[in-house]
Amino acid sequence: MSQSLTSLQDEWESVDAEYKQLQERHTMYLHKLEEISKLQNSCSASITSQRRRLKEMHSSLVDKTGTSDREAEALDEIKSKIKVHLNTFSEMEAYLPKKNGLYLSLVLGNVNVTLLNKQSKFAYKDEYEKFKLCTMAVLLLISFICYFFVAYRFLDAILNFLLLWYYCTLTVRESILISNGSRIKGWWVFHHYISAFLSGVILTWPDGDFYKMFRNQFLAYSFYQSFVQCLQCYYQSGCLYRLRALGERHNMDLTVEGFQSWMWKGLTFLLPFLFFGHFWQLYNSLCLFRMAQLPEYKEWQVLMCGLCFFILFLGNFFTTLAVFLRKLVSQKPKSL
Ligand code: COA
Repeated sequence: MSQSLTSLQDEWESVDAEYKQLQERHTMYLHKLEEISKLQNSCSASITSQRRRLKEMHSSLVDKTGTSDREAEALDEIKSKIKVHLNTFSEMEAYLPKKNGLYLSLVLGNVNVTLLNKQSKFAYKDEYEKFKLCTMAVLLLISFICYFFVAYRFLDAILNFLLLWYYCTLTVRESILISNGSRIKGWWVFHHYISAFLSGVILTWPDGDFYKMFRNQFLAYSFYQSFVQCLQCYYQSGCLYRLRALGERHNMDLTVEGFQSWMWKGLTFLLPFLFFGHFWQLYNSLCLFRMAQLPEYKEWQVLMCGLCFFILFLGNFFTTLAVFLRKLVSQKPKSL
């Protein structure tokens, strides 16, 4: 046998041995997957039954007060423990597969979107923030070009089309984040539905006198909003990285107080820009309502955009205020 054939056979035997090991490992992997799937089903079933039993217990205890002080104390303790248990269920569910809500089912179908470990959840949220930042930078550039250099309707249409696509994408990404335990407030998701609708309405607005009257104001607003959203992404990515570091405090020297002080610095810097943006939304809506009162008024887009801006102002302003006040009152860090 030639030497080259011998070395080829040696090589093949080593590859074959590795292949057999791989096969064994893969079989073990499939077996574990099956075990995990069974565990997931049993945990989900236990949560459902526990939740039902605790709710029944809680409603039967609501009116009970106890005949003595000791009895009343024991009852209060059980009631508060029931609440603690009920609250932990949603944290447990963030790591279990669940049925998609209506919106995700319509967009993605019945596919499981639950990410099963902290690293994947962090990576997905991180990618979401980066996606927002990159898209906002592009939108900032386009609004700048439209405002200062190119007054073509088709470029405005590209800007609005990008905005429409961006907000639609965000709604899907946010639904996935919520399925994975994110505490994004319902308003911010709803805000993105309205913003997508608003961009769609502006896209259909004919290039008449009314459009020309509002165009520059809208482009300047769009430029400002993209800028503020870049700041917001910077703040939220900062929170995300610091909270992750807090969750792994054994290898990173970041304290809860350290996080709090960074968060407050970020918030106090960001809030004036945010509130200015909210009042700009109010100003846009008032301008559009006034335009709708002109005798030449005929385009429905004027009133519809005015209404959207007004709803955006109300929701953004009051939700941001509520978030700020809640943080002021609680002064506790977000849990991971
Ligand atoms: N869009 C998307 N997600 C948001 C959000 C927003 N506007 N505001 C908060 N979140 C997310 C957070 O990332 C966090 O997610 P997590 O649970 O996955 O970690 C969760 O919601 C809870 O955040 P919360 O602690 O309530 O707020 P925060 O400190 O992250 O941010 C603000 C507070 C005020 C900075 C933020 O809500 C904000 O920027 N609001 C204004 C948005 C706005 O008005 N845009 C228009 C600009 S003109």
